[in-house]
Amino acid sequence: MKALVYHGPGKKQLDEVPKPVVREATDAIVRITKTTICGTDLHILKGDVPTVAVGRILGHEGIGIIDEAGAGVSRFRKGERVLISCITACGKCEYCRRGMPSHCEQGGWILGNTIDGTQAEYVRIPYADTSLYPVPESADEDAMVMLSDILPTGYECGVLNAAVKPGDTVAIVGAGPVGLSALLTTQFYAPASLIVIDLDDNRLEVAKQFGATTVINSSDGKAADKVMALTSGKGVDVAIEAVGVAATFGICQEIIGPGGHIANIGVHGTSVTLHLEKLWSQNVTITTRLVDAVTTPLLLKTVMSGRLKPRQLVTHHFALGDIMKAYDTFGNASRERALKVILTQAPAAGG
Ligand SMILES: NC(=O)c1ccc[n+]([C@@H]2O[C@H](COP(=O)([O-])OP(=O)(O)OC[C@H]3O[C@@H](n4cnc5c(N)ncnc54)[C@H](O)[C@@H]3O)[C@@H](O)[C@H]2O)c1
Ligand SMILES: [Zn+2]
Ligand SMILES: [Zn+2]
Repeated sequence: MKALVYHGPGKKQLDEVPKPVVREATDAIVRITKTTICGTDLHILKGDVPTVAVGRILGHEGIGIIDEAGAGVSRFRKGERVLISCITACGKCEYCRRGMPSHCEQGGWILGNTIDGTQAEYVRIPYADTSLYPVPESADEDAMVMLSDILPTGYECGVLNAAVKPGDTVAIVGAGPVGLSALLTTQFYAPASLIVIDLDDNRLEVAKQFGATTVINSSDGKAADKVMALTSGKGVDVAIEAVGVAATFGICQEIIGPGGHIANIGVHGTSVTLHLEKLWSQNVTITTRLVDAVTTPLLLKTVMSGRLKPRQLVTHHFALGDIMKAYDTFGNASRERALKVILTQAPAAGG
């Protein structure tokens, strides 16, 4: 089968590789119908994620059809349409039982990281019963792909960790697919103002369409001053970091008001400066989180009801075989005006 393989920092290739097989009774093999590329895949290609070995098939998002279910899989049968969670959960270990499957002792974020991922014709999903979801009959497949990772990430690591309340002033730093997912799901809680900060005017324009009340281009280095002016010097109640660099975590620290919450989402490859000399007296809370994807069922219901419309995040479509082109588009997101790119594999002949 064809798969997108990581060959070390800066190097990737569409290779011919063996089709995966069931190894454990709890595995399922899924034939991918749609997958996508994440900002985290770009971090991997930069060399920011050392757990990814050379030869790894990338990708941790997608939907597909069960091709084979191991003898121990009870919830899914061959031919059923499934949503793949970016988090693999055994359902039994201490962390899974605590509702924190991101740190599952057997799973967690392993797809496209420590085991082969979804940017391929087929993928092996361990603990299929607790790591896949059935896709409702009438579901929009492109929208479903947004539920594998980015919507739960924006919601859990951003909105829930920041404890957004009605009337809050919320700033989101980073208007990529993850920041925009936080922007969409923050609105469940009716914040009074929603400020979005990015370097890319196109993404800021999209943020406005998605409900931002103010957008700020931070390329002049004055974003924090502008937020302080907007809030009469008080700062914001919530600052969500959705980029993963020191500069943006710095903005969050500058704009957070007394009693505020800084929720970090970004994957950081290098250290940041923590300004405790300023923050020690400010009663702030700083949170970090690897997405647990425990809110996927809730988010799936809001998507099916039409309350949440994540399809708006999809800007480009490619055939799975054109994934190298899709990486070029996603890697030049600003020039290409790209948010999420969807890669599609046509149904198998006869099925
Ligand atoms: N915590 C988790 O579990 C988790 C899960 C998924 C993704 N992530 C991380 O979330 C982050 C966002 O993901 P994404 O897919 O939206 O990425 P992305 O690269 O598409 O978006 C990042 C955005 O940040 C903007 N940006 C870059 N530098 C900036 C700066 N100095 N100031 C202001 N804006 C700046 C870019 O213009 C872009 O719009 C990434 O770090 C990704 O790895 C974390
Ligand atoms: Zn991701
Ligand atoms: Zn577990």
